[in-house]
Amino acid sequence: MPPLNPTSTLAAETRHAVSIVLNGKLRNGHAHPRLLLSDFLRHELGAHGTRVGCEHGVCGACTVRIDGVAARACLTLAVQADGRRIDTVEGLAEANEGRMTALQEAFRRHHALQCGFCTAGILMSLTDYLGRNPKPTEEELRDMLSGHLCRCTGYAGIVRAVMEVTGQAMTEVTHV
Ligand code: FES
Ligand code: FES
Repeated sequence: MPPLNPTSTLAAETRHAVSIVLNGKLRNGHAHPRLLLSDFLRHELGAHGTRVGCEHGVCGACTVRIDGVAARACLTLAVQADGRRIDTVEGLAEANEGRMTALQEAFRRHHALQCGFCTAGILMSLTDYLGRNPKPTEEELRDMLSGHLCRCTGYAGIVRAVMEVTGQAMTEVTHV
């Protein structure tokens, strides 16, 4: 991803116009320079699919794709996203004729979510990651998932879902 726009010249107390292409549709809003992209999506645009957990880049719950690349929305300012393409979990089915994607279906089949708080971020990371590495080994996959905290599943169902959807169905995971 190229560097995001510099923001140093923006007045702190002013709400600035921010336009993004959210899941293929142009959306316009306003943001103070310090407003996080995660809060802009949820509170300014009403796109609540993106979750907010730690708000300092650790848990991965807020992961979206910016110009196709997975990024933490809580580490990105809304004004930095101006003019960018932002894809969120809502867009997965929207881009698939309104049906859940194969990855989402595999998550459902393999019980890869419980409370679901982490799920949107994991799906967005995986959408980017599997585009670059369509057949990850279990070890590679677990390394990638280490950037996401899930308190519920123990990751076993997530690993099974991804291995199945990448054509590497497995009867049991090697470890949890
Ligand atoms: S809310 Fe962004 S990484 Fe946790
Ligand atoms: S399903 Fe609850 S945190 Fe992952």
